[in-house]
Amino acid sequence: MTSVRQLVCSRSLLRLHKPPRVQTSVSGHGAETRLFSSSSRRGTVMPAWVIDAYGSNGVLRFTKNAGFPIINYPNEVVVKVCAAGLNPLDVGMRGGYGAATLSMKRDPLSIKQSGSEFPLILGRDVSGIIMECGLDVKYFREGDEVWAAIPPWKQGSLAEFVVVSGNEVSHKPKSLSHTEAAAIPYVATTAWSALVNTGGLSKDNCANKRILILGGSGGVGTFAIQLLKAWGAHVTVTCSQNAERFVRGLGVDHVVNYTAGPVEEPLSALEKFNLILDNVGGDTERWALNLLKPWSGAKYVTLVTPFLQNTDMLGIADGMMQTAATVATKALKHLVKGVHYRWGFFAPSGPALDEIRDMVDAGQIRPVVEETFNFSQVPQAFEKLEKGHARGKIVVQISKAGDEL
Ligand SMILES: NC(=O)c1ccc[n+]([C@@H]2O[C@H](COP(=O)([O-])OP(=O)(O)OC[C@H]3O[C@@H](n4cnc5c(N)ncnc54)[C@H](OP(=O)(O)O)[C@@H]3O)[C@@H](O)[C@H]2O)c1
Repeated sequence: MTSVRQLVCSRSLLRLHKPPRVQTSVSGHGAETRLFSSSSRRGTVMPAWVIDAYGSNGVLRFTKNAGFPIINYPNEVVVKVCAAGLNPLDVGMRGGYGAATLSMKRDPLSIKQSGSEFPLILGRDVSGIIMECGLDVKYFREGDEVWAAIPPWKQGSLAEFVVVSGNEVSHKPKSLSHTEAAAIPYVATTAWSALVNTGGLSKDNCANKRILILGGSGGVGTFAIQLLKAWGAHVTVTCSQNAERFVRGLGVDHVVNYTAGPVEEPLSALEKFNLILDNVGGDTERWALNLLKPWSGAKYVTLVTPFLQNTDMLGIADGMMQTAATVATKALKHLVKGVHYRWGFFAPSGPALDEIRDMVDAGQIRPVVEETFNFSQVPQAFEKLEKGHARGKIVVQISKAGDEL
């Protein structure tokens, strides 16, 4: 079925041959080119948590003078942040994880000096209200309540405002508060990318499929469980004993406690699986692929990959070569045994969030917020995140819906 977003986007594509529409406003300082369509109050600075160097929690700094985000492309929107979700990636990025690849994404021609990413704003999930729209944005309007997962090479949501592109953003579920909504986008688009784009699953082909999720109790796991159960799959997860009741509450069919001993033994006694989503990594791939049904198209998709680590350690060119060689070797090794080995990655996607929103509003998926922090407590939120043992998500409340709009 064609979605409203697809109809609007295809209409926008028809306009591509026309010259770009740019507004020019004349002020006392001369003509300035405008890419946005709003006359909303905007300042030049805003409150935000930033880092000025990579390191431990001490590098987090609150400022009232972070640069106000600017619309650089006509398909972008400025969102007033009501709530921001945190992910393990934020702790990693605070310490410089992925810096080489993310710098290349921000500045592909290496024109800027090293360290030009600072002051850097972390936070990958946003739920908030659109404040300004670029001139090519047709699907959203000022005042719309939206949610998005922000790609890691962009400035994040631990700020009063953030810029995202129209194809990354989606109208948020009406049934959720902003705090609840901010718990979903990053883990949801990651799980969607791994299960749907890489794993080939969909609502139409999941019935009776046996899925194993290694690591069911964290952010990605709790979302993936609910998505797969809504699509009719049989879901087994591994988690610690104290998370068993929690994951069963999300609909899991079978639980294996990894703290009781090596999980490969109880798991190999079960009927084989059609797909494994690995949120744990480490030595799991030594045994996990033996749990798949061979020669049936079964796939192992791991989210724990050495891609960013390789580029951090070896540089972009050598890191990418190393990565390509590693994944190709592993994929081939398992292909001859009749199973597929794949790496899964976060992929920002407004259209995926549109589908997830409908599932949330239909009561099929609920947010799992483990703990909420105020904007003044961002360092405490990072401390909590860094301790691990997540049971869902950590969310930072930034501003109340509707303030100053
Ligand atoms: N490739 C990508 O683009 C991408 C995107 C998002 C996430 N990821 C990665 O995917 C992984 C999961 O992300 P997340 O956001 O869900 O992390 P999370 O919220 O921190 O959850 C991790 C969960 O795994 C549990 N766990 C730890 N060791 C386990 C084991 N041996 N067996 C079973 N469960 C175990 C933890 O609880 P206990 O310690 O109490 O058991 C926790 O509940 C992380 O490694 C993350 O970096 C990758």
